[in-house]
Amino acid sequence: MKGVEYLMNVLVTGGAGFIGSNFVFYMLNKYPDYRIVCLDLLTYAGNLSTLEPVMANPNFRFVKGDITDRELVTNLFKEERFNYVVNFAAESHVDRSIEDPGVFLKTNILGTQVLMDASRTYGVKRFHQVSTDEVYGDLPLDKTDLFFTEETPIHTSSPYSASKAAADLLVQAYNRTFNLPITISRCSNNYGPYQFPEKLIPLMISRALKDDSLPVYGKGQNVRDWLYVEDHCTAIDLILHRGKDGEVYNIGGHNERTNLEVVKTILKELDKPASLITYVKDRAGHDMRYAIDPSKTKRELGWEPTTLFDDGIKQTIKWYLDNRSWWENIINGDYQKYYTRMYGSREGATT
Ligand code: NAD
Ligand code: TYD
Repeated sequence: MKGVEYLMNVLVTGGAGFIGSNFVFYMLNKYPDYRIVCLDLLTYAGNLSTLEPVMANPNFRFVKGDITDRELVTNLFKEERFNYVVNFAAESHVDRSIEDPGVFLKTNILGTQVLMDASRTYGVKRFHQVSTDEVYGDLPLDKTDLFFTEETPIHTSSPYSASKAAADLLVQAYNRTFNLPITISRCSNNYGPYQFPEKLIPLMISRALKDDSLPVYGKGQNVRDWLYVEDHCTAIDLILHRGKDGEVYNIGGHNERTNLEVVKTILKELDKPASLITYVKDRAGHDMRYAIDPSKTKRELGWEPTTLFDDGIKQTIKWYLDNRSWWENIINGDYQKYYTRMYGSREGATT
């Protein structure tokens, strides 16, 4: 970075994953005088080809590395002197956390600690933790007037959500004990370009396009509150620049759908038959309903989501149709092994 003066230097961890990469594109586009450094381990979920369009951008630097690697992280902070840190890096898939919780605790909790220690040492302006509504547990299906607010108690169901909640508590502890300037955002389920096809929407799109069965857990009645990924990026941008130190902000756009409604919408858009739907054994500890009350973020920061689910899902399906090589390259040998391991014994068993 010698010789060039940037207004702000921003570390984006996990920027080769789904939301992180969308955030990198968003920030480089919106702030031409910012430097964006992406630190990513390139796990199965990280994909360098996603970042290909910005690799040659002089305002961008990619560093391959583990957020739990204290020496690497400390050296990077020493070299770059970041103003802002936005921590997306995480193990993010609930089903994988049920299979193997250990790496979730390591990356999601200890990785956050390492990043915060370096942030303290090198005095960042703001450490932003990208969290999830899953830390609030779930809501009953029959009480549709209930929503998660920032005051809803933490109450987790999966090793994934427990690891994210532990990280949130640690972030708040660093704020109180060490005065590390922090914010936390808790967002609902995201969808959009570059989402790894192990998550509901890209999994169903990619399988429907190949006329493969669509594995719906249980009866498909669980409800998720869907947000188009760019709306998540605009909220984080506002929180980073204008959010109050120490605060938690909920992000969501009131787009609740049952899983079955989502899958049927995808089938309709792709003109594929409902007979592709296969009901499989339910996820252990499966959360029933997530629903965010985003009024604090709207009121305090003026944030508004701009994409309704009915439009966003069409855009997303179009993206997966237009970018087949991106996801077809991902659905390689390892992915096939994962699919067989995860779903092989579930099909035909609906309880
Ligand atoms: P993702 O799985 O697509 O991407 C995670 C990225 O982190 C990958 O690029 C991976 O290589 C990287 N990574 C993993 N372990 C790492 C490590 N030890 N060091 C450095 N990099 C590492 O995840 P996503 O869906 O983009 O989620 C990003 C963040 O947003 C996560 O913190 C997640 O908890 C949170 N979140 C996700 C959603 C959602 O719907 N996807 C909703 C709310 C919050
Ligand atoms: P997912 O995309 O894994 O996100 P999360 O569990 O973090 O909300 O799953 C979204 C919903 O879709 C969840 O209720 C589980 C369900 N689901 C299926 O029914 N079938 C699948 O193959 C997957 C991956 C998820």
